[in-house]
Amino acid sequence: MADGVPNSALAPAPPMGWNSWNAHSCAVTETDIRAAADALVETGLRDAGYEYVVVDDCWMAEETDDDGRLRADPETFPSGMAALADYVHDRALKFGLYSSAGSHTCQGYQASLGRERVHAEQLADWGVDFLKYDNCGDHRGRDAVSRYAAMGDALAAVDRDIVYSICEWGESDPWEWGRNVGGQLWRVTDDAVAKWHTDRDEFGLGIADIVDRVAELDIPAAQAPGGWSDPDMLQVGNGPESGQSRHEPTDIRRPLTAAENRTHFAFWCLLGAPLFVGTDLTDISRTVLDILTNEHLLAIDQDPLGLQGTPDRRDPTREVWSKRLHDGAAVALWNRGEDPTDVHAHVDETSVPTAGDRYSVLDGWTGEQWETLGELSATVEPRGTAVFRVTPLDYSAASSTS
Ligand code: GLA
Repeated sequence: MADGVPNSALAPAPPMGWNSWNAHSCAVTETDIRAAADALVETGLRDAGYEYVVVDDCWMAEETDDDGRLRADPETFPSGMAALADYVHDRALKFGLYSSAGSHTCQGYQASLGRERVHAEQLADWGVDFLKYDNCGDHRGRDAVSRYAAMGDALAAVDRDIVYSICEWGESDPWEWGRNVGGQLWRVTDDAVAKWHTDRDEFGLGIADIVDRVAELDIPAAQAPGGWSDPDMLQVGNGPESGQSRHEPTDIRRPLTAAENRTHFAFWCLLGAPLFVGTDLTDISRTVLDILTNEHLLAIDQDPLGLQGTPDRRDPTREVWSKRLHDGAAVALWNRGEDPTDVHAHVDETSVPTAGDRYSVLDGWTGEQWETLGELSATVEPRGTAVFRVTPLDYSAASSTS
């Protein structure tokens, strides 16, 4: 860590960027990474806040050098990682790499257990700004806390700020120790796949399954500025043709619909989740881009209070969730059903600070604004989610009495 920068200052808001895994899986090359960096700039995603370009699994050669240092695959990353980091930095973006807290990565490449110091120094020398650290390979009998603390200590010892993304899948409750071992984000679920719902025998969790899992975990207290619970990277824009869908044994027959994409993004923003785009940016549609760059939704994700949204009311068709914001709250009305449905809520049952008697409401999708005495309602498309930013009028009175 560079002098004087506390861990929590590395991620005051949920980190945002692009990661190669969902788009390219193990077929990733340096050409894909350069194209993604260029596209982040050209599409306006960088200017919307997506700043990290992270190379996930499969960038390494099969063997380390004689000193145990990782080597970039000479076929797929012939220019090497320092040159790629320069390319990314030249576009005012930050560069991330992947390794694992075991003998090998999930795809069987060399990883970092027992070689944390050497690898952290390498990352710093190459100009890496972000490490995603997975949970695959032989753990050599060591528990998660000891394995993840070893890399946290190694990163803290190098003279570079490197965001530490703990990818432990929520197996050993990383929300309880992620921050203490130096992490700025910690995965709380299995892998998200580009599907609404997965069956038990399929790989990964669908988007609705992840929301259910986070609701069950009930871990909002773990999250605060500097340290973030991570429900996995975004599948917005993805379907059967994206890299991860082809790679993993999940039966995916169609792309996520516009409504499913919107609900996916709405919930990640409502949770205050890290936002790592996982779609191929060289082939992104206007609709998907509009979702990912929606300023009202992004402001909910990045709100300075850094809270995690929580469920207020759940039934099989209609769900109401909310997240307290610095000047009010975001309220999500989710139609889980297959028909258009009216979803109603009242500010009293949500996280909206209710000392006021009138509220302004901003529709996060349309930008429309109106006032309410407390009732909130929307006709919501199947699998869609209405998102309202609700601000008590005369907020100073509301905040001083709440
Ligand atoms: C695990 C992780 C994924 C991805 C793959 C790469 O499944 O959870 O996010 O990094 O490994 O192999």
